[in-house]
Amino acid sequence: MGTRIEYFAELPSTNGEAKRLAREGVPEGTVVVAESQSGGKGRMGRCWFSPRGKGLWFSTVLRPPVNPVETPRVTMVLAVAIATAVRKHTGVPADIKWPNDILVQGKKVCGILVELNAEMDRVNFLVAGIGLNVNIDRKDFPLDVADIATSLKLEAGRYIPRVPLLRALLESIDKWYRCWLSDGFAPVLGKWRELCITLDCPVTVHTMQGSYDGHAIDVDEKGMLLVRTRDGSVQRLVAGEVSLRKK
Ligand code: BTN
Repeated sequence: MGTRIEYFAELPSTNGEAKRLAREGVPEGTVVVAESQSGGKGRMGRCWFSPRGKGLWFSTVLRPPVNPVETPRVTMVLAVAIATAVRKHTGVPADIKWPNDILVQGKKVCGILVELNAEMDRVNFLVAGIGLNVNIDRKDFPLDVADIATSLKLEAGRYIPRVPLLRALLESIDKWYRCWLSDGFAPVLGKWRELCITLDCPVTVHTMQGSYDGHAIDVDEKGMLLVRTRDGSVQRLVAGEVSLRKK
């Protein structure tokens, strides 16, 4: 991972540039990094706050030899890789919240956006975009996320140099991605369950049709969240918004 690194002072979105390079045929593991993004993309059409020099905003091109239905597994591989690297490198206790958030003490420090380019039963390429808030101060967050976002600096109580952290993240992504492809999904899923704060928690599920309460009981090998609802039935969620309620 990162054998070829394309560095930019500013881009609209590193995912956009990584997709362009992937279509040109760059090798797997190519990484696009930007100091800032003018149109950073989050999930569900949201914007991703990406101020200059204060975070790690990067995307990597992957070409896993899998069926497109396995894409959610890539997000889980990345979440495990990032949470473990952040813990080891900074000592900050990073957790995973299903499906793709990395939280510290309940606040979001990192988001992952995986975009797929596929034919019928074959992945052409995936672009995995990672946005990690590294040295953002509380006063700098936009008002709409100020209460729900955090940064590694705020949690660790010290400035975190970004280059060694990026190296640690890329090494960890490389390790967990290879582990998935060579040993199968079970080791990733095991670590994911260990780091996930959504499991065994009361949750509220938000859908286009409305919201309902339930209890998150497990995640399956496809990355779907199993939620037991109040009537006792079990819903399998492919993607979506889930908020945690107090136990
Ligand atoms: C989320 O909504 O949680 C996902 C956020 C992903 C943000 C990253 S920053 C680098 C890459 N480029 C983008 O435009 N988005 C992702």
